[in-house]
Amino acid sequence: MARHLITSALPYINGIKHLGNMVGSMLPADVYARYLRQRGHEVLYICATDEHGTPAELAAKEQGVPVGEFCASAHDAQKAVYDGFALAFDYFGRSSSPQNTEITQHFARRLNENGFIEERAIRQVYSPADGRFLPDRYVEGTCPHCGYDKARGDQCENCTRVLDPTDLIEPRSAISGSTDLEVRETKHLFLLQSKLQHEVEEWVARHEEEWPQLAASIARKWLNEGLHDRAITRDLDWGVPVPADTWPDLAAEGKVFYVWFDAPIEYIGATKEWADQDPENRDWKSWWYDADDTVRYTEFMAKDNVPFHTVMFPATELGVREPWKKVDYVKAFNWLTYYGGKFSTSQKRGVFTDQALDILPADYWRYFLIANAPESDDSSFTWEHFTATVNKDLADTLGNFVNRVLSFSKKRFGEAVPAGGEPGEAETRLGTEIATLLAEYEAQMEALQFRKAAAALRALWSAGNSYLEEKAPWLEIKTDKDGAALTLRTAMNLIHLYAVVSEPFIPGTAAAMRQAFSLEEDTATWITPDEARALTTVAAGTPFTVPPVLFAKLTDDDLDAYKERFGGEPQPA
Ligand code: 2FM
Ligand code: ZN
Repeated sequence: MARHLITSALPYINGIKHLGNMVGSMLPADVYARYLRQRGHEVLYICATDEHGTPAELAAKEQGVPVGEFCASAHDAQKAVYDGFALAFDYFGRSSSPQNTEITQHFARRLNENGFIEERAIRQVYSPADGRFLPDRYVEGTCPHCGYDKARGDQCENCTRVLDPTDLIEPRSAISGSTDLEVRETKHLFLLQSKLQHEVEEWVARHEEEWPQLAASIARKWLNEGLHDRAITRDLDWGVPVPADTWPDLAAEGKVFYVWFDAPIEYIGATKEWADQDPENRDWKSWWYDADDTVRYTEFMAKDNVPFHTVMFPATELGVREPWKKVDYVKAFNWLTYYGGKFSTSQKRGVFTDQALDILPADYWRYFLIANAPESDDSSFTWEHFTATVNKDLADTLGNFVNRVLSFSKKRFGEAVPAGGEPGEAETRLGTEIATLLAEYEAQMEALQFRKAAAALRALWSAGNSYLEEKAPWLEIKTDKDGAALTLRTAMNLIHLYAVVSEPFIPGTAAAMRQAFSLEEDTATWITPDEARALTTVAAGTPFTVPPVLFAKLTDDDLDAYKERFGGEPQPA
C-alpha cells in the first residue's frame, strides 16, 4: 500500500468546460484515483478552479459583477457539473483561497532570498483615464497585419498573429475605451529561470525515462530552447498580491503574481484548504513536504500544460530550496477534436460538460471518453462514433448481459442465486480467461494506459456473453435444470465481478449492479485475478433484484437530434 497524490490541471474559472477539456485532465485522474482506492491505497485527489488572471477579470466585467463574486458562483457552477460526472475529488479548491495566497507568497520570498527573483524595469502601456497599467490583452486596436479592428494586444483573434500592444494601430483601453495611452516604465519581478536551467535538466533527466513519451519530449524541447527569465507579476486587481514585507514599492503599486505562478502552487494550497476543514484528522504537509520516499505524485493534463508542469513549476520548487514534493509521473494527453476541428470555448463549438449531462447520464460519457482518450494521438469526437459505442459496448455487451441473466434466472429460479451443479470444463475455461483478462486490465491501469484498460474491460464483458451463448441456459434448462442453474450462478458472479472492476469507469452503473445482490456488505473492494478465477464470490441463495435497464439504446432519431443541435459536419483541423 502506497500513498498516492493525484492532481488534474486546474480548470480556468471562466465558463463551463467542454468535453475535450475534461477528457485530458479530471476524468482520467478520477478513473485512476478510483482504481487505486479500490486496490486499498491511500489516495488524495486534488483539483481546484484556476481563478486569477485577465480572463476572470474580463468575464466578470462582461457580467457586470465584482470579480470575487463572479468567481465564487462560477466555482460552484463548475463543481456542480463535476459532481454530475461523479468526479470523486478529495477536495476541489479555489486558487483565490487564503491558503494559496500564503503559500505563493512564501514561495516568492524564498525564491528571492535564494537569488532567483530580480526586480526589473520594463516599458508598458499606461492608461491615465483608467489610472493603471494595462496588461497586453487589455489593449485593443487594429491589427497591423489583417486590419481586424478588435485585435488584442497579445494576439489578433482574426489572423492569429502574436502581437505586442505597441504594434496595434489606434490602440485603446479595453476597460474604458480611452485612446489616451502612453508607454511608461514600470517594475516587475522576474523569476530567473536561466539560473535554474541546469538543475531542472538534471531533475528531468532523472524522471523522463519513466514519463510517457509525449510529456518527456515536450519537456526536452523546452529545455533545449533554454529557460528564459520570466516576469511573474502583473498589473491586475485580481491575483495573489506581491507581499509588502519584501517588495513594499511593488505592493504599493498593487502588483499581483502572474496566474501561472500561483496556479500550480494551488495544488499545495488546495491540499491545505482540504486539511483546514478538519485539521485534527487531516495533515496536508505530509503529502507535500519531505514526502519523496512516502508519496507517489501523478499529474494529469493536456499537452499544452506540459511545459509548465515539467519545467517551470519544478524550477520554482527547486529554487525555493525546501523539500517540496515534485511530480513523479506526468500523464499528458493530446487533443480531443470535434469532428476533426477544435472544441472551442470561445466559439462555443463542441459539447459542453453541462450539456452532455442534460442529454445522458455520466457513465455513458465517462466510458466513451476514456475508451477513446487522446492518449497516443489526437482523437475525434463524432456523434456517430459515440452512439455506436454506447449501443455496442454499454447497451449490448454489458447492459443486456446483466438484464438477460437476472431476468431469466428470476423467472425460472426465483429471486435468489440458484444453487445447481458443480462447475465443469466450461467454467474452468471461463475462469482462466477471466483471470487472464483481469490481469491485463490491472496491468493497463497500473501503466495508466486508459484506452488499453478500456479494451481489456470490454473483453471481460464480452467473455461473459460468449460463455452465455455457449451454455445457452434457456435451452439447457429444458434438459438439465442443475446445469442451467450453474450457468446462471456463474453468470451472476460475472455480473458481480463486472460491478467491482468497472467501478473506475462507470461508478453509477457499477453501484447499481453491486446493489442487485443483497450481500452482507456492498463493497467495491478489488477482486484479484486469482479470486476471480473461481467465480464464487456470490454464493447460491443470495437474494437479488433485477435492476432497471442499465444503458438505453440510442436510436437514429437520437443521433439526428444530437447532430442537429451541436452540428455534425467535418471541421477543418
Ligand atoms: O490550461 C489551463 O486550463 C490552466 N488553467 C491549467 C492550470 S494547471 C495548474 F498549474 F494550475
Ligand atoms: Zn490580424
